[in-house]
Amino acid sequence: MLTSWDDPIASIKQVKGENNLPPHVVAARGPDAAPGPDSDAIAQPDPDLLFTPGQDTGGVTGLEEVEFGAGRISVDDKQMINCRADLNQLVPFKYKWAWQKYLDACANHWMPQEINMNADISLWKNPDGLSEDERTVIKRNLGFFASADSLVANNLVLAVYRHITNPECRQYLLRQAFEEALHTHAYQYCVESLGLDQAEVFNMYREIPSIHDKAAWAMRFTQSLGDPTFHTGTPEADQRLLRDLIAFYIVFEGIFFYVGFVQVLSMGRRNKMTGCAEQFQYILRDESMHMNFGIDVINQIKIENPHLWTAEFQQEIITVLREAVELEIRYACDTMPRGVLGLNANMFEDYLKFIANRRCAQIGLSEQYPGAGNPFPWMSELMDLNKEKNFFETRVTEYQTGGVLNWD
Ligand SMILES: [Fe+2]
Ligand SMILES: [Fe+2]
Repeated sequence: MLTSWDDPIASIKQVKGENNLPPHVVAARGPDAAPGPDSDAIAQPDPDLLFTPGQDTGGVTGLEEVEFGAGRISVDDKQMINCRADLNQLVPFKYKWAWQKYLDACANHWMPQEINMNADISLWKNPDGLSEDERTVIKRNLGFFASADSLVANNLVLAVYRHITNPECRQYLLRQAFEEALHTHAYQYCVESLGLDQAEVFNMYREIPSIHDKAAWAMRFTQSLGDPTFHTGTPEADQRLLRDLIAFYIVFEGIFFYVGFVQVLSMGRRNKMTGCAEQFQYILRDESMHMNFGIDVINQIKIENPHLWTAEFQQEIITVLREAVELEIRYACDTMPRGVLGLNANMFEDYLKFIANRRCAQIGLSEQYPGAGNPFPWMSELMDLNKEKNFFETRVTEYQTGGVLNWD
């Protein structure tokens, strides 16, 4: 495909001599001057240079040589993956939804330390404040999420970002990466506020089997993309990218987070651990946007590369999803073995199958669990950004804006 950015300036580079030099250089040298180093440098790159201009870096990172002065980028040059157009230029937008999601995410900015944790601290320190099962719910979920959000952040920055070759999507990915840092910050803030044993909480993904298994499951979907020798551009490699995007956006952020969200938000609904619950509520809003962004990216890759979505590949994805549902059901049983807060493991099994059906439909797969119902309809209310009128009501601090910053 010939794209406008392909319009090279190579022809200019190949013509040696003063004609290539800018007019001010020609004027400074005078009419009889020998060709200067500028023209030779282009024609004969220094072999000692670490990076030879124009060399094949084997990928589409955006860090390849930019062809200054080549044809301007048009919307048609842009692609979600394997795009060869210059990635250092945000506009013209092709995927306006990605830019809108970036704007929406910024409009919902929050910080963990804005949330008042006083009620949680006194409840936690009161020996009769919470049952052992309720304490387990809080500790296990902090343990799972504290590592999970770091894993997601590392996956974004070290694996996914390089392979998504679209500037407006990368803009959202940068915002998402910061939000993942805020989430890890939020868990640390809860752990610190409650005076929990940091080593115990932050090592749960190594020491608690149901938490370990979810993290271990996800690792194989980040290691492949993070491999520096991995490059997209073949059907097999592109399927690998698509599979790994589904594993993280649909399964990890779209299924593995939801038992924890329901459990902690259920406590908040019963007026217990309301600070933690509020932190989780903000995180849930962010996560539901992350997942929706991922769904749009996945579907756009499918539209642009229909040859990837084979029957065999769809079957592989269904297996991945079903495996994940089993792991998350185990996590639900492990975090509330006896039933607590009016919740029990059977309800979670239903809920996870209901969610998995939705995730399948969102990426064009058939529903895997016919008839699964939703025992927690209130969760969708909490996720809907537009319905929540008092999003900023409980904030305890105000942001400084550019107009009030004191530079002295
Ligand atoms: Fe997160
Ligand atoms: Fe996320």
